[in-house]
Amino acid sequence: MTILDGKKISNEIKDEITLEVANMKERGEKVPHLAAVLVGNDGASLTYVGSKVRSCKKIGFESTLIHLPSETTEEELLNKVHELNADPAIDGYIVQLPLPKHIDEEKVLMAVDPDKDVDGFHPTNFGKMALDMETFISATPFGIMELLKRYKVDTQGKHAVVIGRSHIVGRPISILMSQKGEAANCTVTLAHSRTKDIKELTLQADIIVSALGVPRFLKADMVKEGAVIIDVGITRVSDETKEKGYYITGDVDFEPVSKKASFITPVPGGVGPMTIAMLLKNTLLARERNSNTK
Ligand code: GUN
Repeated sequence: MTILDGKKISNEIKDEITLEVANMKERGEKVPHLAAVLVGNDGASLTYVGSKVRSCKKIGFESTLIHLPSETTEEELLNKVHELNADPAIDGYIVQLPLPKHIDEEKVLMAVDPDKDVDGFHPTNFGKMALDMETFISATPFGIMELLKRYKVDTQGKHAVVIGRSHIVGRPISILMSQKGEAANCTVTLAHSRTKDIKELTLQADIIVSALGVPRFLKADMVKEGAVIIDVGITRVSDETKEKGYYITGDVDFEPVSKKASFITPVPGGVGPMTIAMLLKNTLLARERNSNTK
């Protein structure tokens, strides 16, 4: 069994980007600038956005955190989005999800300039991704593909079962894995909450991508010997004995499942760190693409 070490690979990617940024600086070029918009004080979102901004600093990017109060109106947020679209200093930006309930998420994501949409959430970019065109691929599915590539996991002609049909992970990864190419060419089954017998499907899977958010959902008796296991779940479970008052766990019952798996991602330290690395990669791409037009 091989651990798919997302922390290690994400550090390699960040080192590669650091080098590119240093070269850009040496050539007197503007370095990539990522902005992140956070509305409200959701604990997990604060952690993620803080981590994204810290990573920017480490690798030599410029970064701007725009932290708005939870009472921010939809109109105020849309104004901020328009401002970022028009700001030539910003190469790419993200609006951290979830947004407060009184704000229409779709409306906000639609307002983001697709050329600055380093999250790849805009329909233009999602559509391009589905059509194999050059675009920004959402960081989490992009990170999973990169992890599979760098560990040279054989996916060709394999049966991949994706659990979860979210717009951010399940849906896009099911498309990417079915496409032609490295870490792809899979026969994909997309399972979700209405799927009749998930265990019957997962037992047939050569590769399982679980993006459900249910702690320890995937048990060893649901997994075939030698399967590749990708755990996208990151759930905070309350635990008073921990310093932070919680611990992080994935969708996979790691210890018993790892005994059957050929490759497996840990939580934490698997897909999570890859997501940040690929967001940075997208921001670098946004900078390079922008330099053609500005
Ligand atoms: N919320 C959970 N994951 C993500 C992500 O990748 N991007 C943004 N913007 N919000 C998220």
